[in-house]
Amino acid sequence: MRSLEDMSVLITGGGSGIGLGAAEHFGRRGAFVTISGRREEPLLAAVEQIGTRCNAVVGDVTVADDRKRMVEGAVDHGGGLDALLSLAGNMYVGTIGALEEDRLLDLFHSNVVAGMMLAQCAKDHLAERKGSIVFAASVHTRRAFPGASGYAATKGAIEALTGVLAAEFGRKGVRVNSVRPGGVHTEILVRSGMAKDDEESRDRVEALASAHVLGRIGTTEEIAEALEYLVCAEWTTGEVLTVDGGLSLGVTRG
Ligand SMILES: NC(=O)c1ccc[n+]([C@@H]2O[C@H](COP(=O)([O-])OP(=O)(O)OC[C@H]3O[C@@H](n4cnc5c(N)ncnc54)[C@H](OP(=O)(O)O)[C@@H]3O)[C@@H](O)[C@H]2O)c1
Repeated sequence: MRSLEDMSVLITGGGSGIGLGAAEHFGRRGAFVTISGRREEPLLAAVEQIGTRCNAVVGDVTVADDRKRMVEGAVDHGGGLDALLSLAGNMYVGTIGALEEDRLLDLFHSNVVAGMMLAQCAKDHLAERKGSIVFAASVHTRRAFPGASGYAATKGAIEALTGVLAAEFGRKGVRVNSVRPGGVHTEILVRSGMAKDDEESRDRVEALASAHVLGRIGTTEEIAEALEYLVCAEWTTGEVLTVDGGLSLGVTRG
């Protein structure tokens, strides 16, 4: 098992939620962390909090030049690249009759295509360090949430491509995995318009607590612990690791 100490890690979506939790956790473990996102303010706040081992690149993962700057920024900051945590993502909700094609295509661009193209951009750097990629899947592939077909479909695509990329990169010593979180309170519901503010967002996620076998939602730190495992476990590849407090078990009490 490798150690995070002195690893160079690029975390997309590192300005908030699960990505920020990962940046804090990896930073505490001594990694050189490069975070990215479109909004500068949360990235700068994260750098201030985490310290000089954290570097920020403002950019949009759906833009090729920005992806290149993110990878180059991480390579410069950490002297190479050991891990790409492709966590940037969005939700778009609506029943099938209400969905707009342009917005669905945007969702697939940010949640699926951008991560694939980042993998393409990072692969040679990762091969030099026998590094790894981790994508963000979701419990939405295991439990049906009406109105979230587009989001669930993007996460199904992530799970499918995890195995194929693991096979493509394996002989170069690069591992590819995904984490499949359950309910975690982050910014995603507010950013998608599903909740009007942070309080309503927390209430919506907390409403799911009893559906989790462990009776509560998860924390960003608990997802970061799973990300650490996937980045450091040298014989784990092509895996989608469920970290969801038992939500995907779908326990039904009769
Ligand atoms: N929270 C949960 O319960 C949960 C459960 C399962 C899976 N996930 C997945 O976990 C990942 C992280 O989500 P989260 O819950 O932590 O939500 P979040 O707090 O909203 O974080 C998502 C981040 O992605 C960034 N982002 C979105 N589109 C981007 C783009 N085009 N270019 C660059 N950055 C972009 C956002 O920053 P900017 O807006 O500044 O760009 C934001 O910081 C997502 O893939 C999500 O689907 C979350």
